Amino acid sequence: MSNDGLRVIAIDGPAGSGKSTVARLLAERLGLEYLDTGAMYRAVTFAALRRNLDPADAEPVAALAAKVDLAVTLEGVVVDGVDATIEIRGPEVTRAVSTVAANPGVRAEMVSRQREWARRRGGGVLEGRDIGSVVFPDAALKVYLDARPEVRAARRSKEVSDLDYETVAADIARRDALDQGRDASPLTRAGDAVEVDTSDLTVDEIVDLLAEQIDG
Ligand code: DC
Repeated sequence: MSNDGLRVIAIDGPAGSGKSTVARLLAERLGLEYLDTGAMYRAVTFAALRRNLDPADAEPVAALAAKVDLAVTLEGVVVDGVDATIEIRGPEVTRAVSTVAANPGVRAEMVSRQREWARRRGGGVLEGRDIGSVVFPDAALKVYLDARPEVRAARRSKEVSDLDYETVAADIARRDALDQGRDASPLTRAGDAVEVDTSDLTVDEIVDLLAEQIDG
């Protein structure tokens, strides 16, 4: 799919690689809007759990994804009028989200909403797992962020104060395996993406480095 005329920056990578922080700051620096596509998959998962759907039941979950009203902004996440900003980061949603994100029907709907989001704005910074590989293969800049597993687990366990490091590390390893091993758009580095290991870099260093790729 060509995205002629759109200024899209695609940032992909596994959990805890620094995507969200970097994408937000880079968007600010470039005067673009930012979309956390992982929050969209989390929001669909939240909606499914609220309706007592089995996250693995592909058809009803995909049907729900097609009709659910999602507002994902810097201020928070609203699902069918309900503020789900906190719950989408909680353990129940986090446990089920990889199953929902592996559902091809859910993915097709989210990808179409993500393309529409960028089209309306003339572009933007989108972060996720498949932005450079599937959603915007012609993005102006594709970035793949990664970090050593222990660094990623330490970052995530700081964000979720109620879970200990071992639990978070095990959850990240489980989700990595599911996100990389699924049939539908697995997490993968696009061949032409700029790869950055963020383990030993500050956020400012990463944002500077990426901004240079765009200016230069
Ligand atoms: O980045 P995150 O942890 O909030 O993402 C939540 C889940 O959604 C994660 O298991 C991977 C999945 N995801 C995806 O499959 N494709 C995306 N573009 C973004 C997230």
